[in-house]
Amino acid sequence: MINNEILKILYENKDDYVSGENLASVFSISRAAISKRIEKLRLKGVNIHSVPNRGYKIISMPDFLIEESVTIGVPESQAIGNTIEVFDEIDSTNEQAKKIAKNASDGTIVAANVQTKGKGRRGREFESKKGGMYFSIILKPDVAIEEVPFITQMTACSIYKALSQMGVDTLIKWPNDIILNDKKLCGILCEMSCEIDYLSYVVAGIGINLKKVDFEEEVEKVATSLEQEGYELDNLGLFWNILKNFDYFYQKYIMHDYDEMLDILRANSYILNKDIEILTSNEIKKARSKDIDEKGFLVVEYENGDIEHINYGEVSVRKKR
Ligand code: BTN
Repeated sequence: MINNEILKILYENKDDYVSGENLASVFSISRAAISKRIEKLRLKGVNIHSVPNRGYKIISMPDFLIEESVTIGVPESQAIGNTIEVFDEIDSTNEQAKKIAKNASDGTIVAANVQTKGKGRRGREFESKKGGMYFSIILKPDVAIEEVPFITQMTACSIYKALSQMGVDTLIKWPNDIILNDKKLCGILCEMSCEIDYLSYVVAGIGINLKKVDFEEEVEKVATSLEQEGYELDNLGLFWNILKNFDYFYQKYIMHDYDEMLDILRANSYILNKDIEILTSNEIKKARSKDIDEKGFLVVEYENGDIEHINYGEVSVRKKR
């Protein structure tokens, strides 16, 4: 915990040197003990410069997530990210989140730099090598079961807005992908645990491709990363920004105030007003996507003129022949 606090002080004063003496007095430990803790932070990838008689200064934070750094940019008043568990490698952050969900508070996060069994929708694998950011947010909103599917839309809005604020223009592919330059940059997988009429919790899992990695051949064709598209963002800053926007939209969601989110979903949709194919568990249907309704359902018109508001299935845009 002291190491987290030391890093926080250095980060908050990142334009200056903070003296060892100062740090030692804050934590009531010796300067030698501070020096040992600084060494530990360096081993974790934090680049800290030290100058005799001046102290310590952060040169750079690691561009992957470490337990000591993740909470620094999360305001205490914010529900989302109040507790964050960080793993360098784990099977799946969604699975770990489900294991701890019962006793976890609303907004607790499980994050990892690598997933060995990253889960995608419909039982598919989500390639999660080093070079991405993978995290799951545990949510315990007091809402009706019918309102739960909107959490995927809310998650998409948070990621969209965070990226947009950092200069990256993406589109949202209903219901759960973020698209950059026609390729998938980020996937969302929301899972829930409920009784017939009572929601226990939702886990909102987010996987973002940050750097160029060697994807499997099939994935390579459809996926991209921020690096591949020429963006060099501060990854930790992006993580905090997503949490900040998530917290903002989550408060609105709880109040059933979907308007701003619906505006974002409609104005930045990858699939609206396009000819699409809807893949359900047993068939593929051709349709035209018309709108996103008040509940976040996709309004589609089939070739026979029937209209349906769908909340399931996988959508792909039909290529013009
Ligand atoms: C999809 O594209 O089908 C959804 C992908 C969701 C991936 C994220 S990464 C963090 C969380 N943990 C998982 O195992 N999956 C989600």
